[in-house]
Amino acid sequence: MGTLTNKRILLGITGGIAAYKCADLTRRLRDAGAEVRVVMTQAATQFVTPLTMQTVSDHPVYQHVFDDAVAPDTTMAHIELARWADLILVAPASANSLAKLAQGRADDLLTTLCLATDAVVAVAPAMNRQMWQNPATQDNLAALRRNGIAVFGPAEGIQACGETGPGRMLEPAELIALAADLFATGLLSGLRVIVTAGPTWESIDPVRGITNRSSGKMGYAVAHAAVDAGAETILVSGPTHLDPPERVDVVRVTSAQQMLAAVHDRIGEADIFIGVAAAADYRPAEVSVDKIKKDAETMTLKLIRNPDILASVAAIPQGPFTVGFAAETTDLIHHARKKLERKGVDMIAANKVGVPETGFDSDDNALALIDDQGIIELPRMHKSRLARRLIREIARSYHAKDSTENTRRAHRR
Ligand code: CTP
Repeated sequence: MGTLTNKRILLGITGGIAAYKCADLTRRLRDAGAEVRVVMTQAATQFVTPLTMQTVSDHPVYQHVFDDAVAPDTTMAHIELARWADLILVAPASANSLAKLAQGRADDLLTTLCLATDAVVAVAPAMNRQMWQNPATQDNLAALRRNGIAVFGPAEGIQACGETGPGRMLEPAELIALAADLFATGLLSGLRVIVTAGPTWESIDPVRGITNRSSGKMGYAVAHAAVDAGAETILVSGPTHLDPPERVDVVRVTSAQQMLAAVHDRIGEADIFIGVAAAADYRPAEVSVDKIKKDAETMTLKLIRNPDILASVAAIPQGPFTVGFAAETTDLIHHARKKLERKGVDMIAANKVGVPETGFDSDDNALALIDDQGIIELPRMHKSRLARRLIREIARSYHAKDSTENTRRAHRR
């Protein structure tokens, strides 16, 4: 796994000779773990062919606002693509494209996407040194920076036009390092985070058990986002088919009781606990040593309550900042608020289950975050992106808490 694992990057190519480097850039972005989609302006197609970019990205190249290829079954294609991206990287960014982005124009697919997205936008300028040094270009750059757009480069050196000076696009390896830095926020640096994820398996006999439809995707994405934010992260995971996120210490468990023990073994060191697991509320009262035979016409399974891991962590005096999840089918906010109070946690992330395209096995989810300050709605988006937004809000809420409370926690170590 690379530095950009799970990141969705929309590469916007504009008209400039440096466009020839985009095939290599795309290949390297993918090697670094990113998913890449490519948007080209008309001018860009003069320098590199869409077929080349389609081949290296392994996806159709998007060129027009009303492209069918963007999202075949929707009339809001550009919105879908803008939502898809974690980062829009405009490389090379011509002087003209910088001017359009600075003005907020939307006269082609790429500029429309940059306006319509709430993802990070970065530009890698590439142009003749006179164009770069022109006050109009410098004014546009200042406007872009003011609007939160990251500017990568340019480098100095010999230019395609034969002149020497600033205006060369950075090399692909440099662009990739800068893109990775954008995701490494440092919001949780120096903190220890424990995340639970996945379902649990409660044995009935050696071959049967009770489980649920949780895939673990959300919990794994949260652990990944915590590491990206600089936290030392432990992921206590029930049975899933997912690859462990890089730099995360994974502890594998099967039952809710094992999950409880694994969490409490490590909780003394934790600053933040995030319970994403769909731990079973009940387990069979007895586990048969041998496989149960189908002798009777009916059978009754007696279940007993499992410990509530989240509530047990929230009950620790001067314990970590605790975040719970609430999966609800009705009255989302009402039930989630009740859960916040009942379990005594600092924040609840509520998601509506039983609706298409979000929840258990889906790649997308939407959350309402509830704490004592109010509600923040995070609309439907890919789970990895949602996890980063969640971590941002957790960091904000954690740091906003009475600092003496956090200091006391530090003394507990
Ligand atoms: N949770 C836990 N241990 C359990 C059950 C749940 O730590 N044995 C945690 C989950 O990780 C989640 C939160 O509790 O963070 C909410 O779980 P949910 O299933 O939505 O609600 P319950 O508390 O089980 O309540 P109810 O089933 O009544 O909705």
